[in-house]
Amino acid sequence: MSYLIYCKPMDVVFEADESETLLAAALRNGHVLPHCCGNGLCGTCKVRVVDGTVEQNRPANGALSDLDAEGGFALLCQSTPKTNVTVQCNVIPETAQIPVRRIMGRVHRLERAADDVMRIWVKLAEKDSLLFAAGQHVNFVLGAGVRRCISLANPPSEGNLLELHLKNYGGALSRHIFEKLKEKDLVRLEGPLGIFAIRRSSSKPIIFMAGGTGFSPIKSMIESLRLEGSTRPAALYWGGRRPKDLYLNDMAQAWADESDMTYVPVLSDAIAEDNWSGRTGFPHHAVAEDFPDLRQHQVYICGAPAMIEATRKELTTRCGLDPEDFFTDEFKKS
Ligand SMILES: Cc1cc2nc3c(=O)[nH]c(=O)nc-3n(C[C@H](O)[C@H](O)[C@H](O)COP(=O)(O)OP(=O)(O)OC[C@H]3O[C@@H](n4cnc5c(N)ncnc54)[C@H](O)[C@@H]3O)c2cc1C
Ligand code: FES
Repeated sequence: MSYLIYCKPMDVVFEADESETLLAAALRNGHVLPHCCGNGLCGTCKVRVVDGTVEQNRPANGALSDLDAEGGFALLCQSTPKTNVTVQCNVIPETAQIPVRRIMGRVHRLERAADDVMRIWVKLAEKDSLLFAAGQHVNFVLGAGVRRCISLANPPSEGNLLELHLKNYGGALSRHIFEKLKEKDLVRLEGPLGIFAIRRSSSKPIIFMAGGTGFSPIKSMIESLRLEGSTRPAALYWGGRRPKDLYLNDMAQAWADESDMTYVPVLSDAIAEDNWSGRTGFPHHAVAEDFPDLRQHQVYICGAPAMIEATRKELTTRCGLDPEDFFTDEFKKS
């Protein structure tokens, strides 16, 4: 038996068999809805079921919390339809009109930014370009259904060139990029995806926060604001363990030297031979010390889920940050 699936607010409609997931049906019908891991872990495909019934598979350590399930949320990659279904996808005005595409490109350049971080530039076909909002990510498709989320590091204005930063996690994507990938290789991507984007309706000063390669989408956002000549006050806090983790520290420092943006690098595990004279500890403690009152700020943060959760708690309880002004991109395992 098959059912009709309506996706709002894009007004996408497709047919799904009762035995296939909503995501599989969407892809089979040529609709690339937001997704990444396909196994219930990353949460990229989370939607609200506004009408109809789905059967939801809940893998251990999955991205759907009990609270989500009670609130009517579902994961497209883990839900099969039991009736006709209407879902509300998580979109914001800044990304709603941007089409999600399957694209091919060739590796233009590879650069080790640190022993465990690779910068990758992918060039699309001469007349092609990817429309995206600074902060969004793409899926890197490895074949046979294996895909991993990876953020876009450059500003959207760079035409047919896309920049990506990957940490070496030791898994399939990391091994492919650190051990096999070479210039001119073909690369398959899907995107842009996600709602990590600067909210244009606000003029509140921004605190950007990054942990490790969480710097990547933050770089895209800051470079985009710089290119626009934005006068919105901004500060950047970048955290790592040792100096090598701040793999583009000079670039961030140059932004601060050339503008009113403040840059605060913070290390948690510097040792004597690092000769580190900067801030130590965790970035969220540094932000709370420097901005005891965050009631009129927005925070954009990207990195490990634990760091983001600790920051959310600290800044909303100690500094009065409005939870609605806390925007995150969690580098969850996929
Ligand atoms: C929206 C989004 C955007 C992302 N953007 C980036 C990015 O720009 N740059 C980047 O470096 N990463 C990014 N990530 C994280 C990256 O997609 C995953 O970590 C990916 O799984 C790594 O693939 P892999 O095949 O190398 O490792 P996997 O095969 O997935 O995992 C290998 C091992 O590493 C562990 N591991 C995997 N990911 C993580 C993690 N995030 N933290 C801690 N341990 C992990 C696994 O548990 C496993 O033991 C992003 C994640 C999301 C959800
Ligand atoms: S694509 Fe569904 S949780 Fe990752």
